[in-house]
Amino acid sequence: MSRPTPVALFDLTGQVAVVTGASRGLGQYFARALARAGADLVLTSRNRATLAPFAAEMENLGRRTLSLELDVLSLESIEKMAADAEAAFGAIHILVNNAGMNIRKPALDVTWSDWNQILDTNLRGTFFVAQAVARRMVAHGYGRIVNIGSVTSVFGYAGLAPYGASRGGVRQLTMSLADDWGKHGVTVNCLAPGWFRTEQNKVLYEDSAWVEYLVDRIPVKRPGEPHDLDGAIVFLASEASRYITGQTLLVDGGISTGSTRATVAPKK
Ligand SMILES: NC(=O)c1ccc[n+]([C@@H]2O[C@H](COP(=O)([O-])OP(=O)(O)OC[C@H]3O[C@@H](n4cnc5c(N)ncnc54)[C@H](OP(=O)(O)O)[C@@H]3O)[C@@H](O)[C@H]2O)c1
Repeated sequence: MSRPTPVALFDLTGQVAVVTGASRGLGQYFARALARAGADLVLTSRNRATLAPFAAEMENLGRRTLSLELDVLSLESIEKMAADAEAAFGAIHILVNNAGMNIRKPALDVTWSDWNQILDTNLRGTFFVAQAVARRMVAHGYGRIVNIGSVTSVFGYAGLAPYGASRGGVRQLTMSLADDWGKHGVTVNCLAPGWFRTEQNKVLYEDSAWVEYLVDRIPVKRPGEPHDLDGAIVFLASEASRYITGQTLLVDGGISTGSTRATVAPKK
């Protein structure tokens, strides 16, 4: 039997990818990368209308695109999204569990409500979206789930206590789900971006001193640009990663090599 070429392993033609939180930021870059590799798309937002321009761009690429409303804080909304996606396309092959939020605060100022909002969105939401979609993937015996984590899945940062707890949880959840669903042909991995300039952290990037501090600690000497994630998302969504599950792939210019703290050396 002839095997696909290594490059063909990355081809997503005929696959259907659900990308949550596709109204802006990294979600749109993930969706675009998957579409350019051949996938049809289910895009979600709490406000479906905001997806229209991006959905039109994806349709122009020749991809079938369905825009759905999804609030990951509502189980009913999650179930409806998964059911509508499957009804429209027949199957879901790829899930990018990207919807998320953050509230940056010193730990002493974090409120009960901040904690619940962050954990409920990033961790509980990620789990129940994965569960609703995986139920359908298991029935078809195939799936690729990519949970979006963060460098904070692995390292601690001041001002990000609940966020880091949620992202650490996503990493741990990824391992448990991989163990649970591997026998059904469903792989589950975590893509953990470093520091990327998007709406969520735009205030940080307005502070040139912070950007200088950050870049100093990134071995490749620049912040992440969203296209730096294209290869990793297509890899984890495709046949190319078929024997990889439960893993966290950090795409961070090397900030996780340990230099975060180690480069506090005096400037020459
Ligand atoms: N930017 C970075 O450097 C970075 C690094 C590591 C990890 N991340 C993570 O990667 C993901 C995308 O980040 P980003 O920077 O692109 O963030 P962003 O610009 O703030 O976008 C967040 C997306 O999540 C959706 N969302 C938020 N709450 C939701 C809810 N309750 N239900 C459904 N959707 C919801 C938003 O959709 P609507 O508002 O349209 O509903 C939006 O599309 C996030 O999970 C973030 O934590 C980001």
